Amino acid sequence: MSLVAKEPPATGAAPINAREAMERLNADAGPLHIWMRTQANAPAQRPWFRDTGLDAGGQVAPGRVGAAQMKPVPHRWRWREIGPYLDRIGEIARNADVSPIEFAERQQFLLTNPGLGGRLQVTSTIRCAVSIYNPGDIAPVHIHTPNASRTILSEQGGYTNFEGERCEAKRGDLILTPNGTWHDHGNDSSAPVVWIDVLDFPLLEFLDIIWLDDEFHGEAEGNSRAQAVRRDNGYSHKLYGSGGLLPGFVSHQRGIGHDTTPIFHYRGAEVRAALHDLRREPGDPYEAITLRFVNPATGASVFPTLDYAAQLLRAGEETRFKRDTASTFYVVLDGSGYTEIAGQHFDWERNDIFVVPNFLWRRHVNTGKTDALLYSVSDVPLMQKIGQYRAQGRLGDGRVTDLVA
Ligand SMILES: [Fe+2]
Repeated sequence: MSLVAKEPPATGAAPINAREAMERLNADAGPLHIWMRTQANAPAQRPWFRDTGLDAGGQVAPGRVGAAQMKPVPHRWRWREIGPYLDRIGEIARNADVSPIEFAERQQFLLTNPGLGGRLQVTSTIRCAVSIYNPGDIAPVHIHTPNASRTILSEQGGYTNFEGERCEAKRGDLILTPNGTWHDHGNDSSAPVVWIDVLDFPLLEFLDIIWLDDEFHGEAEGNSRAQAVRRDNGYSHKLYGSGGLLPGFVSHQRGIGHDTTPIFHYRGAEVRAALHDLRREPGDPYEAITLRFVNPATGASVFPTLDYAAQLLRAGEETRFKRDTASTFYVVLDGSGYTEIAGQHFDWERNDIFVVPNFLWRRHVNTGKTDALLYSVSDVPLMQKIGQYRAQGRLGDGRVTDLVA
């Protein structure tokens, strides 16, 4: 590059059109995989934290970078619309020559966010599938890097074997399979079972660190499709289920992953009972009464990437508006109401699912006559670890305040 001062154009010569000249350079140099910069920097996100109204935030800015960027949008999946497809999958499986679980490994549908062009994800970090297991179905034992969970919708039936521990599923249970743990699922009851799978798959896909192994060489039963049960149902609960008491004689790392919870099975009945005991507390104006599912050994989130919580909204309760840099995914376990997201109104009832992308104002309203129970999953821990977690709320008079500056 020349450091000599630029000569003024010779008298009479027309100045060149720099933009056109640069684009010609681009056409010339394209095969070399370089790009002459011809546009100002175009971040996909406008400043989200300015007070520009309740429906602001989350817009894609124009420009080369923004053009390739996609943003998740708020969305709700109504159970009464999507649920019947599970019955139809189950029906096909019962009558098929080869059932879908054989050629697709799972009988499920995945949720796709309308803003993400058909990608199998609901936010930039979260994938969600809804699965049905017919009696006798088995998902063979395997291990992988994504962290995963199951939120059980069926009243009972179905199980996950996790590092040799059998976890029997009931409605409202949260069963975790952290990264680096051997697990298999199945249904040995007499009726189909349904649950919601949540994974940090898109994040790991983006980072190119996904692997999966299904060659189980541990103690296996029969054809090694399922691992042998070495721990009874309730083992991890026996170790960690007494609040504030931590066993001193076991390793709190289970599997080969790091910073994940050693308790795999959180029981819905206990979550409800704990929330019920707290229902006369004032709670948080932005989140009502919440309980986080945490790693009992550290108090940290159950996965390094995702945080899980149960949220109780009492009859008639309305939370204040809140927005943050994390995205949150919800499943409605009980009750009915609506969530306002960036000016849009999403009503919900039992088993409905909805997603609140980052930066958008949201508030929840329980319009029913009974308690509403929401389970949520957010990527708050990831945002915290990379130094990007911030949150704002709106006070009763409408002023914006920093909740996490
Ligand atoms: Fe898995």
